[in-house]
Amino acid sequence: SFIFVEDAAGTEHRLDAVEGWRVMEIVRDHGLMDGMCGGACECATCHVEVEASWLDRLPPRSDDEEAALDTVPDVGARSRLACQILYSDALAGLRLKLVPPDA
Ligand code: FES
Repeated sequence: SFIFVEDAAGTEHRLDAVEGWRVMEIVRDHGLMDGMCGGACECATCHVEVEASWLDRLPPRSDDEEAALDTVPDVGARSRLACQILYSDALAGLRLKLVPPDA
């Protein structure tokens, strides 16, 4: 199945998604994200904005995710850390936008 990722330049990418992978790992595997801390919820380089229609299909932010998001600018209601989203086929078609740290 696939997810759809818009990069900082506005280009949309359709990425093969693997059940059981974190969304960060899927995006990083395609070279679109650093994921510097490896998914430890520490670097916030995996900051994304989730399309509104998908928001309530994701589990809520944990306290650790909130704390990591507090360290970066441009955080909004649709902000998530992609390493904290576990991909399953229930998320097939997920749409998100990258918010790179230097944006
Ligand atoms: Fe570092 Fe997600 S990869 S917080």
